[in-house]
Amino acid sequence: MRGIIFTEFTTFAEEAFGMVAVQDALDRCDLASGGGYTAVGNYPYAELEAILTALLAAHPDVDAEKALYDFGFWLAGRFKTLYASFFAPHDNAMSFLDSIDGHIHTEVRKLHPDAVPPQVLLARETDDRYHLTYQSHRPLAAVAIGLTAGSLAAFGGDWTITASETTEGGRAMTLIMTRDKAT
Ligand code: HEM
Repeated sequence: MRGIIFTEFTTFAEEAFGMVAVQDALDRCDLASGGGYTAVGNYPYAELEAILTALLAAHPDVDAEKALYDFGFWLAGRFKTLYASFFAPHDNAMSFLDSIDGHIHTEVRKLHPDAVPPQVLLARETDDRYHLTYQSHRPLAAVAIGLTAGSLAAFGGDWTITASETTEGGRAMTLIMTRDKAT
């Protein structure tokens, strides 16, 4: 998995749990990479799971799905800064979300043949109701829901996720988004 996900996740975790907690978790994991991630590297996905497991072991009050959702929401804001050119062509959230599969993740695959981004597809039901499906070989549906919610917020919050269903142990997910009618 691309190093950017690791560097962003450890930054997020430092903000959420503190630098000491993250360093402790990295130390306890005995990672093959040594835990010195760079954004341009590529690392086994299992290391991300190991770090999360170690962090949560020290914070039994924190729910794993909630932590992954929060990471996704936070990551959308980071992507907006780091990859502004992927946001700039879109004046609304549905247009942006519709560009993930055909443009954003396609560019990621082209630039980094070792990357395997998930399939994220948008479908219009009515002008005010769309659904989004996520399919991956990794169980990161909660990150996808958070990323979607963060993207909706980044475009002004006219849209809300009104339902979501995760299946295949987190490897597949469908969510519904509806637009709050302007009054
Ligand atoms: C500018 C916006 C975005 C960029 C630059 C981007 C880029 C990436 C990159 C580089 C990866 C790592 C893939 C790998 O190493 O195999 C990734 C994974 C991922 N992306 Fe995107 N992405 C963006 C937007 C989104 C959005 C809006 C969603 C919402 C559903 C999304 C869902 C995911 C998820 C859930 C993963 C984790 C890996 C997995 O589930 O298999 N991405 N993305």
